[in-house]
Amino acid sequence: MTVERQQRIVSAPARIAGLGMFAPERVLTNADFERMVDTSDEWIVKRTGIRHRHIVAENQYTSDLAFAAVDDLLAHHTDVKLETIDYIVVGSTTRDYEYPSLSAMIQAHYELPLTVGAFDISTACAAFAYGINLGAGLIGTGQANRVLIVTADALTRSVDYSDRSTCVLFGDGAGAALLEYSRHPAIFGMDAGCDGNGGRFLYRTAMRTEINGIEDTSRLLHQEGQAVYRWVMENVPDYTYRVLARAGLGLEDIDWFVPHSANLRMIEALCKRLPFPIERTLLSVEEYGNTSAVSIPLALVPAVRDGRVKPGQRILLMGFGGGLVIAGSVIVWT
Ligand code: ACO
Repeated sequence: MTVERQQRIVSAPARIAGLGMFAPERVLTNADFERMVDTSDEWIVKRTGIRHRHIVAENQYTSDLAFAAVDDLLAHHTDVKLETIDYIVVGSTTRDYEYPSLSAMIQAHYELPLTVGAFDISTACAAFAYGINLGAGLIGTGQANRVLIVTADALTRSVDYSDRSTCVLFGDGAGAALLEYSRHPAIFGMDAGCDGNGGRFLYRTAMRTEINGIEDTSRLLHQEGQAVYRWVMENVPDYTYRVLARAGLGLEDIDWFVPHSANLRMIEALCKRLPFPIERTLLSVEEYGNTSAVSIPLALVPAVRDGRVKPGQRILLMGFGGGLVIAGSVIVWT
C-alpha cells in the first residue's frame, strides 16, 4: 500500500437512493441435506451458522432473480423512474448466458433506451461492493447521474451436490441498488484489490478445463474451504483498515459492518480480530446461506426496511471472494 493512496480521502458525490432484494421461494434446510449427503444440522450450524438457503426452481434463472430484485426496488421507491438511469452494472458469476450480458437483458426487459450503458463484472462475492465503487466512479466523473447496480446469483446451479463440503454452503438471490448524484458525498473510502494467486482455491472451469494441473470438465464450483478461510482472515482485516483510512475514518466511526455473509463463524472471527462488535454486523448467512454477490444486499435491505439503519449512520461494506478479490467502501445512509 503506498503512502500516497493511504493519505488521500476518497469520496464520491453520490448516494444510495433505493434498494431492492429477492430470494426464491424454494427453501433447502439442513434436514434436507441430511437426507442428501453425509452431514448433520449440528455440523453445518457449528461450522457455518447456516440454517436455510433459498434456491431457484428448475425453470428459474439468474435473470429472473435480477428482474425480481429490480421490481422490489421499484415497489419500495415509487419515485424512481428507471428510464432516467444512465448505466446498469451487474455482478454475477451464474448469469444465463455468456452473452448477451445480464445487464443487457435488464435493459431489454425494462425497455430502456439505447443510451443506457450496460456491463457485467466478474468479481464473484465481492461484486456488490465492486459495483458500488464503479457506480460511484461513473457518477463522480460526470458520466452518469444515476446508476443501477444489480447483483444476482444462482450458485446452486453450479454446486456439486455430491461434495458435502461445498453443497451445504450456497443459496440463491438478487439485490439491486440505485446510486444517484448527490451534492453531499455519501460514499467514501472506495478501494479494491486482487490476489490472483489465490484463484486456484475457488474456481469453476469454462472454456478451459485444465486448472491446477487437473482436468476439471464438471464446470461446477470447486472450493478449498480452509485455504479460502485462511486467506480471508489474513487479508480482510488489513483491507478493512485500508478502506477506513481512505475514508478518513476509524472503526469507532462505523455504525454497521456488512461483510460478505459467507460463514457466520468466519465473520465472528473477523469481528474479534478487527475488533468490531458482532451485534453491529448485518448478516444474511443464517437464512440464505452464502449467496455470493448477493449476500451484502440480502443483509442490508432488511436492516434498512426495519429501521435498524438510520439516516446519518455509516455502513462499512466489505466484499471478498473468487479471484480472489476484495472491495469495500463506507456508505453514509441518507
Ligand atoms: N458435513 C459433515 N462433515 C463435513 C462436511 C459436512 N457438510 N463438510 C466437510 N466435512 C468434514 C470433512 O470431510 C473433514 O472431515 P475429516 O476431518 O474426517 O477429514 C471435516 O469435516 C473438516 O473439514 P474442513 O474442510 O476442514 O472443515 P472446515 O472447518 O474448514 O469448514 C468450511 C469447511 C465451512 C467450507 C470452511 O472452510 C469455510 O467456511 N471456508 C471459507 C469459505 C468461504 O468463506 N468462502 C467465501 C468466499 S468465496 C465465496 O463466497 C464463493
